[in-house]
Amino acid sequence: MLFDSFTLKGNVIKNRIVMSPMVTYSLVRSDGFIDDRHISYYEKRAKNEVGTIIVEASGVDGNQKAWNQIGIWDDKFIPGLKKLAGAINDNGAFSVIQLHNAGIKAKMEECPYGPSPLEGYGRQMSKDDIKKSVNDFVNAAVRAKEAGFKAVELHGAHGYLLCEFTLKKYNNRTDEYGFENLEDRYRFPIEVTKAVREAVGEDYPIYYRMGVNMEDIDDVIKGANMLVNAGVDVLNISSAFDASTSLEDKEHEFNSVTSSAKIIKENADIPVICVNRISTPERAEKLLKEGYADFTAIGRELLSDYQWAYKAKNDIPINYCYHCKPKCRLNGGDNKCPNLIKTGDTLY
Ligand SMILES: Cc1cc2nc3c(=O)[nH]c(=O)nc-3n(C[C@H](O)[C@H](O)[C@H](O)COP(=O)(O)O)c2cc1C
Repeated sequence: MLFDSFTLKGNVIKNRIVMSPMVTYSLVRSDGFIDDRHISYYEKRAKNEVGTIIVEASGVDGNQKAWNQIGIWDDKFIPGLKKLAGAINDNGAFSVIQLHNAGIKAKMEECPYGPSPLEGYGRQMSKDDIKKSVNDFVNAAVRAKEAGFKAVELHGAHGYLLCEFTLKKYNNRTDEYGFENLEDRYRFPIEVTKAVREAVGEDYPIYYRMGVNMEDIDDVIKGANMLVNAGVDVLNISSAFDASTSLEDKEHEFNSVTSSAKIIKENADIPVICVNRISTPERAEKLLKEGYADFTAIGRELLSDYQWAYKAKNDIPINYCYHCKPKCRLNGGDNKCPNLIKTGDTLY
């Protein structure tokens, strides 16, 4: 199944391999502009049989970043984004860009906002902030479409802004955006989704990276269906609290992140992407066959070996990720990855 095509709103996606969104810390410029290294990094993966590329978390509000990020908060970024989308599309992959607001975890700012302050840090969003943030997502989605991306993904996982509203840890509000009631908890993500849908039109696919908290799974299923009704076309299931890198665990047949995708797939009528330690093509195939998801997202393996998908297709040995420490995300990638040292390759 891994190399079966999939048609999404009239777009034929050539296979079920998705490059998971991953911030490329060592390539992102502090001003948010894209340069040739970044384009080459994505182009290499597109040329090597990845079916869908979800470009990393890109900032919809220049004041709400957790690290240096690709900028999509201003029209000035459109020319660079056009080049990036073109490099992906022209090489046969389906281009998606992830839209992100770091919320209360926006560590680069002096006073980030979120649903509520967290342990005295940051400030609670006012109703005006909420309206502005909905518009930030809308404007970013319109820019993505103008730049030639085939779809956008709203980042609603890993404890960032959209996800924060749905988690008790981050949301102590007592107004209609508060945590206690499910409709209130999902009000902001739903407002964003509906507004983006209205702006981009019915035919343009919207992905949603949904952060699942397994302890709250019944509510998560209801939330997933609310998102689907609001206009989401694909649910990309990850964890609620962080970009979990956990190993297989005892409670779940594969691991809790992939299991949560299966639960959503069984309970919502929508294509689903699963992720987390899907290291080998055999694992990906098994997950697809056993109904965990319609697509498998591959993260660190595509940093470690940009030819993962090409090699899977042609039955060539892959340079698998060692899951070493310090993690690639912290040390900035490039030559710190043992596989890149071994092959003499660079990230881009
Ligand atoms: C270096 C790095 C950067 C990441 N950046 C993002 C991101 O921008 N957006 C996102 O939703 N997840 C991000 N993640 C999470 C990955 O998309 C993925 O869910 C996670 O790595 C698990 O998949 P894997 O085991 O195949 O690597 C990141 C992970 C890594 C390792």
